Parts: sequence; structure tokens; C-alpha cells
Amino acid sequence: MAAFLMAAFIRGLDRDEVGALTRTMIDSGRRLDLAHMTAGRIDKHSTGGVGDKVSLVLAPLVASLGVVVPMMSGRGLGHTGGTLDKLESIAGFQTKLSLDSARRQLDEFGCALIGQSEEIAPMDRRMYALRDATCTVESIPLIAASIMSKKLAEGLTGLVLDIKRGSGAFLPELERGLELAKLMIDLGAEHGCPVVALITAMDRPLGRACGNALEVEEAIHALRGEGPPDLMQVTYALGAEMLVLAGAAPNTDTARRKMEVAISSGRAAEMFQRIIAAQGGDPAVVEDPSRLPQAREVEIFSAPRAGVIARVEPRAVGRGIIALGGGRTRMEDRVDPSVGFVIRARPGDVVRVGEPLATIFARDEAGIAAGMASLAEAFVISEEAEPPLPLVSHRVTRTGVEPYEAEPWVRTAEFPVFVEPR
Ligand code: URA
Repeated sequence: MAAFLMAAFIRGLDRDEVGALTRTMIDSGRRLDLAHMTAGRIDKHSTGGVGDKVSLVLAPLVASLGVVVPMMSGRGLGHTGGTLDKLESIAGFQTKLSLDSARRQLDEFGCALIGQSEEIAPMDRRMYALRDATCTVESIPLIAASIMSKKLAEGLTGLVLDIKRGSGAFLPELERGLELAKLMIDLGAEHGCPVVALITAMDRPLGRACGNALEVEEAIHALRGEGPPDLMQVTYALGAEMLVLAGAAPNTDTARRKMEVAISSGRAAEMFQRIIAAQGGDPAVVEDPSRLPQAREVEIFSAPRAGVIARVEPRAVGRGIIALGGGRTRMEDRVDPSVGFVIRARPGDVVRVGEPLATIFARDEAGIAAGMASLAEAFVISEEAEPPLPLVSHRVTRTGVEPYEAEPWVRTAEFPVFVEPR
């Protein structure tokens, strides 16, 4: 297998070969049989980023609107965070559900947030460990087969992909992201599963909170209508695609309005409480996020000089979380859910020397020092701002790649991307 992975990494796989590999990986395990359900069954997958807590908001939000969301997520990988680690910062939350329990939960109220088990595509788990050991992770055909084998075993009627681009993405270049998107869309079509991909920015962290419990807290705020604008923009863009694919909204405009009502009425937050309770967690965190693990040490990181924030480098922030103990360098490492950063300054902000840019949450003084060093690397302050990537730049479907048409609500001055939320 190691020799095969090296060959696939170096020489690539042709379309038939990726198709055969994906089928073999799906057939190595069971499938989630949801054919008895009449509602659309839609999942979302992100290629990974820093501060990317979209799944925590999106799954309850879309499920509260009648879509069945069997969401299968992963753990932190490299400098990026993982939804399972974030969820497990809620006391008692179980992500290891059997397929039968997930199915019961989906039947009952339409959403389950689960990890990959030995039941779904077990071949992927073994191949993934070998890819890690043989440095063959960053291969477009191997990534596509790995992700799609798990997603296609979930019995979906549609899938939405969030393909990150920019310095903090695994595939920073737009062209490689598009290549991956097209391949996964094609694999979906081969199995009768329509796939839509949005290309989104990962040249700065998404939202303000970076770190497991801090991100859950920000997601709860988002579900209560107090989310940062960039997080909401990406969430609504992906959610609109999910609702349209499920047939729960005729177009993205209507979908967006439905999502706003689900949030303002409290339905989306209630759905999150329901999921937490069903999976053994403490549902009271939704009312009172201070029940989440709290860091012992908190310190402000201030601007070392005056100027314009040119960049907030996601890789440095992600590596900083690992240095604080909030991520892994080896699979068996334990994660401290309480640590991380809240990044207040955004690219384009003009700052004075000594102005607070971020808050560090650590377990001890050594963690604060490590956090300070990571943020000193992450914040690039210069004379001029560097134009950031558009938050959502392209939409990819079977018919091709189109520039993402920002909805009017994104273009207006009322919804600026780089203004501090309340
Ligand atoms: N996520 C996966 O599940 N597989 C990959 O190969 C890369 C990211």
C-alpha cells in the first residue's frame, strides 16, 4: 500500500483509477441507509482552515429548516482545527456514534454530528495513517478519493464543499482548489450525488475565535444572531446551497431569508441544544457558554508598532494553538480545549502602537509566552494593507466554474466584511 501511495502521489491517478479507488474504499465498509427518508439529505465538507467553525453553526441551522444533515467530520489536521475536537470541548459530547444510533437520531430530528468510525470506509483510515507516514497526504486524487468515499457512504442526496484557498489552506493556489473541486463533483455525479463547491478565503482566520472551546462559544453566538460578519457570510453562502440542493428553498435569496428567521426565532440554537443533549453533552452551554472549559491564564497581545494590519497569517495562528496544547503533533496527543486566541484586529485595520490586537488563552505562563511568539509572527503590520481574498470567490458545479455572485446583502455597507461585530 505504501508503494501504491507513493506511486499515486508522484505519477497521479487518471479519472478511471480515482473512480475505482473511491468505489473500493466505499465498499470496504457499510453505508448509512437513509433511503426511507423523504427530506433531502445534505452534508458539507471543508478542506480545512483556522477559525473555521462553520459546521457548528451550519448543521443545526440547516437541520432546523427541515433538511436531514448527517454530518461526518474529522479531527484537527496539521495547522487546521477539526469539528470533532471542537464538539468534544462540550462536557460529555459523544462523537463516536454507531451508524445505527446516527440513523435513529436522524430519524428523530434530522441531524447527527459524528466522526468516521470503523463502519464507514475503514480503508480510508488505514490509508490515511500510511499517507501521513509516507508524506503522501497532499495529492489531489488521494484527497478526493478519501473525502468522497466517506461522504458517498452517508446516503446523501447532495453535498456542498467549502474549498479553502490562500496561505492557510492545504492547497493555497486557486487552480489546485478548482482541480480538487471538479474531481469531487465528478465522483459525486458518478454515484448520483449532486455536489456544489464554493471557493472561500483562508488567507486570514475565519471569525475571531481560534481554539476549540472558544470556537464553540463563537458558534453559539452566531446561532443566537451575534456572529461575526465574515463567519455569517460563509455560513449563509454554504447554507443557501444546502437548502437549494435539498429542495427546501427555491433559490438562494429565499434560503438566506429562511436562515435569518431560523436564527432570529431561536430555532437554530434550539436545534443545537437538541443535538448536544442527544449526543450526551451539556445542552446548557447554549444558554450559558461560560460552562465551556475556561483557560487559566488570559493575556492581551498588543500592536508592537503603528501601521496597517497587512496580514493575519492563519498558519502561524494554527501552529500557535498547537503550541498552546490545543492541537496535536501526533494522533495520540490530548487536546486542551480551553486554549487559543480571539483575534480582534483584521487585515486593513489601522492600529496604534500598544493597541490590543488579540487575546491569548493559555493554561500557564509558558503558554502565554508561546502565544505571544506565535501572534508576533501572525500579525504583519506595515505601511499599506494587502488586499484580502474575497470571502467567497467562485461557485463550481458540473456545468463549470462561475464567479460567485455576491448577494445584495453581502455588497451593502451594512454588511462590511472587516468591521468588528457587536
Ligand atoms: N480530509 C480527508 O478526509 N482526507 C484527506 O485526504 C484530506 C482531508
